[in-house]
Amino acid sequence: MASEPVNVNEFQELARQALPKMYYDFYTGGAEDQHTLKENVAAFRRIMLRPRVLVDVSRIDMSTTILGYKISAPIMIAPTAMHQLAHPEGEVATARAAAACNTIMILSNMSTCTVEEVASSCNAVRFFQLYILKRRDISAQIVHRVEKNGYKAIVLTVDTPRLGRREADIKNRMVAPQLRNFEGLLSTEVDTDEGSNLEALAEGIFDTSLSWEDIGWLKSITNLPILIKGVLTQENARKAVEVGVAGIVVSNHGARQLDYTPATISVLEEVVHAVGGRVPVLFDGGVRRGTDVFKALALGAQAVLVGRPVVYGLAANGERGVRRVIEMLKDEFELTMALSGCPVLRILPGAM
Ligand code: FNR
Repeated sequence: MASEPVNVNEFQELARQALPKMYYDFYTGGAEDQHTLKENVAAFRRIMLRPRVLVDVSRIDMSTTILGYKISAPIMIAPTAMHQLAHPEGEVATARAAAACNTIMILSNMSTCTVEEVASSCNAVRFFQLYILKRRDISAQIVHRVEKNGYKAIVLTVDTPRLGRREADIKNRMVAPQLRNFEGLLSTEVDTDEGSNLEALAEGIFDTSLSWEDIGWLKSITNLPILIKGVLTQENARKAVEVGVAGIVVSNHGARQLDYTPATISVLEEVVHAVGGRVPVLFDGGVRRGTDVFKALALGAQAVLVGRPVVYGLAANGERGVRRVIEMLKDEFELTMALSGCPVLRILPGAM
């Protein structure tokens, strides 16, 4: 193998070497022109830091709490689909890495290991990402399994009534395996004559009629806190608080849904302002450096979620690879805190 990666971006090349092209393209790609995909990263680079000097940084405390659960740093694992296409141990390996790093993994509804397998593989705090299906009875069954298996929150993804147009998947005729959470409930091996079968699958099962009223339905079937993932505007942020969500994830789905949405970091402040501290705001999209974590927190996020780099770490080196990715981001974030004169994740009296 080439030399050990020294930053998270270097895992991407290792993943490319490890994976069949169809799967690498699936993990990497964005929608259509992939303009937002580039912007998610580029917008971070346009933000500069204003360090404060002569602050005692001999002790740095990165820890924070999310919905009352303490984590070692404000860096969590975003829900991403089908980890067994990256590594045979799939989401179980990712969950163990999250536990080892003392952070929270959000398990995707579209995982290749079941809710139960992931729950029994480690006893860390886990959240579950949900898509609401046309077959509400199946969504309800999954939510009950999630509760029974000790997941602590539901993260409802709301930016995917249909799947974004991911052209690499169309060209590669990307095929999804049977997704194990749905075993015995519905087949996810959809036949299609052309294009990506993921698109056909989503078209067949996702509820395109989903609206704000349906948050009430979800609340009626679970007592778990519900976070809403996929908010990009102040209007929607206010609405989300109004319908009683426990948290908001500012996200454009890693630029895989609607192309030409703004980079998430460029709308974070607007959402945070509209929410006004009533619920926590989490953030994802383009986080590749500790300085990115710092920028998102400075703009008001409670924590960031990391998507692709985790999958690249998994593809490159299983559980250990995911651990390295999270550790690298934590190390960089800690250094950023020290070099910018911010030893804790709040504003110190007299520091302004
Ligand atoms: C995702 N994302 C996602 N989101 C979700 O709510 N449910 C899902 O099943 C998936 N699946 C998925 C697969 C892959 C391969 C990617 C790259 C992304 C979106 C994900 O949760 C997150 O919003 C983005 O990945 C964040 O952007 P970065 O960190 O990948 O730039």
